[in-house]
Amino acid sequence: MSQHSASIDPAEIIATKRRVTTHRQENILPREDGQKFTILKTAHSAFILESTIGTRPGILYWGKALEHTTPEEISLLSVRQWAHGGPAVDVSASLSNELGAGVPGPPGFIAHRNSSDWAAIFKVTEVIQENTNTARIICDDDNTKIRATYDLALDPASNVFTATTTIENLGTEIATIDWCSALCIPLDRRLTRLSAFTGRWAMEFQNQEIDAFRGSYVRENKSGRTSHDNFPGIIAKADFTSEKQGPAAGFHLGWSGNNRVRVDRHSDGRAFVQMGELFYPGEMEIPAGATYETPKLFASWSDQGLNKLSQQFHEHLSNSVMDGRIKRKPRPVHYNTWEAVYFDHSEEKLVALAEKAAWIGAERFVLDDGWFGSRRNDQAGLGDWWVSSDVYPNGLGPLTKRVQELGMEFGIWFEPEMVNPDSDLYRAHPDWILEANGVEQIPSRNQFTLDLTKPEVFDYLFEKITSIISEYNVAYVKWDMNREIHHPGSAGRGAIHRQTNAVYALMDKLRMHHKNLEIETCSSGGGRSDYGILKYTDRIWASDSNDALDRQTIQRGASYFFPLNVLGAHVGPKECHITRRTFTMDFRAATAFFGHMGMELDLFEETEDDLQILKSCIELYKEHRNLLHEGDFVRLDSSEYLNVVGVVAKNKNEALFSCAKTAGHSTTLPGRFRFADLDPAKQYRLKIIWPSTNISVTSPSIVETADLLDAGSIFSGEAILVHGIQLPLMHPESCIIYHFEAV
Ligand code: GLA
Repeated sequence: MSQHSASIDPAEIIATKRRVTTHRQENILPREDGQKFTILKTAHSAFILESTIGTRPGILYWGKALEHTTPEEISLLSVRQWAHGGPAVDVSASLSNELGAGVPGPPGFIAHRNSSDWAAIFKVTEVIQENTNTARIICDDDNTKIRATYDLALDPASNVFTATTTIENLGTEIATIDWCSALCIPLDRRLTRLSAFTGRWAMEFQNQEIDAFRGSYVRENKSGRTSHDNFPGIIAKADFTSEKQGPAAGFHLGWSGNNRVRVDRHSDGRAFVQMGELFYPGEMEIPAGATYETPKLFASWSDQGLNKLSQQFHEHLSNSVMDGRIKRKPRPVHYNTWEAVYFDHSEEKLVALAEKAAWIGAERFVLDDGWFGSRRNDQAGLGDWWVSSDVYPNGLGPLTKRVQELGMEFGIWFEPEMVNPDSDLYRAHPDWILEANGVEQIPSRNQFTLDLTKPEVFDYLFEKITSIISEYNVAYVKWDMNREIHHPGSAGRGAIHRQTNAVYALMDKLRMHHKNLEIETCSSGGGRSDYGILKYTDRIWASDSNDALDRQTIQRGASYFFPLNVLGAHVGPKECHITRRTFTMDFRAATAFFGHMGMELDLFEETEDDLQILKSCIELYKEHRNLLHEGDFVRLDSSEYLNVVGVVAKNKNEALFSCAKTAGHSTTLPGRFRFADLDPAKQYRLKIIWPSTNISVTSPSIVETADLLDAGSIFSGEAILVHGIQLPLMHPESCIIYHFEAV
């Protein structure tokens, strides 16, 4: 919805009072009388709809660009026949599979007016196309007096398809929407398997493989954030689809609040994907004349495996969703204070850490939790956004000044939406929190959630945050959100929709006021990572776990949807604070290298040798970060003991591959593996650029024989792609970074 205004009128957030039909009318592609089809196309893909005025609109085709095929042919080839026991006429699928249409299986739109008017049937009244990449399909139902407007787009740069549905109440009484999928997308019959993404705190983006099924796969997230458990993204693929080949369709809902994701395989042979907001009872009521717009659904289709699908998502996120802020400069190396000091702040210790971090190569110093109010532990002070005079008697000035003198940007932690009951803010305004009438609030991490739909709360937060940013020349905010929201009532009704939009609005307002400010989205790690929030933020904190081994899976899982330039990855302490496992600095550094690199450890507790190793890895990251963040990301198909991922320059002249040995193997020597995406016709100089010492456990090995640590060896792309390379014998929990340069 488009209500990112300064002061938020809750009524405005629940439903925007605008008529969607007042659309710009210039440059509209001419349509013939009785035109049956609407076609969206790019150089590589096409989306074809049947959209004759007066009929229910339906998706006929979504896939590769068709050069020799007419939509009439596709329509004829799609004709379904009568089945025994079936309805007298085949009920075609439509964009919402709305209840009144009678499509078997779960509908994509459910609404009513006080239990009446629930059988909507959306028929096309107008189609507006400004160009061949976008279409607006307007459908009215005179019976229920509901209008559905579908905004569809096929991005020519990325081939990502996006859709939103806007529901408008044309009646005279309030309509209640119980469910509105952003679209109902039919699945290609070959795509029988699903990859879903689940997890928990400190173990996000875990891939869950789902075999072919009949019935429904449904995930409902009512955590009040994107969630660790139910990431709103899913990939449908064929049995034979791999990273490098085969058909696949990926779907993601760009929304940071409650959601439902479902895939239904009907007994009539059809299958559909739906994604939309999950509402509390009566949460989405739209008055007469008002509208509700769904979050945006992002969909990527590939006939060349999962890598291609992810590359398209990455391109679309970087160039169409995000506002370009992060493109203005290379991604700076972070130093974050959390695992170094937790709540034990002192100016002296932090200045010393800043000096050491700058020497190691940090370019941004992020002061985490613990700098404000009475926040000496996680039980007090949230909401009191002023510098603690107990801990910082001179204010933050001496620290920020030193950080900036050292050539680093200063960043700071906020958790704006939350309040500890033990805080001045809560004592003054106990009525500022979200709560359900008559239900005792259960704190989580000792905190309640503020009601950002209240203008006074919104204004309080804006003023407090903006004044800290201005006073200390803050370049970066780590925006945290550390609890699920279970009773999100405001003014008596469910409010996650309004609250989520208010969070977006607050971020937006801060970004408007501070044009260079970057924001990191964090929610106990990766619990609020999605394309909705990335419109207003610049980096995701992928996980609180800095365990390098777990990070290999977490970052690989996240990479299906998120590119390396937004994926926050930090070098943690030798003994991981969360898992108590220990890792070499070589492995920790290599793992954080493949992301937006940073550090989060007490530098005074590391050995001099390890600090030197870290320093040299950061230098290497700076040398290669343009390639890391602008090249095409690829995953190699997983093996039980290796995780290999890489980036290949768009012109294929350069590439980096990280090959992490995550476990032991049952054979005496590891096998060969084949890289991906290089140009078979090019000659490449291949070197190992990390670690700088010979990683092979036995000698001689390919490392010396091919001189990989020094001058390297030249191989054809073909040899590397078709025959592959023998891996040296390495210890588990170690990682090689290979560099390819065309000669
Ligand atoms: C959350 C974040 C951490 C850290 C702490 C501070 O757990 O995920 O990175 O900022 O809060 O309390």
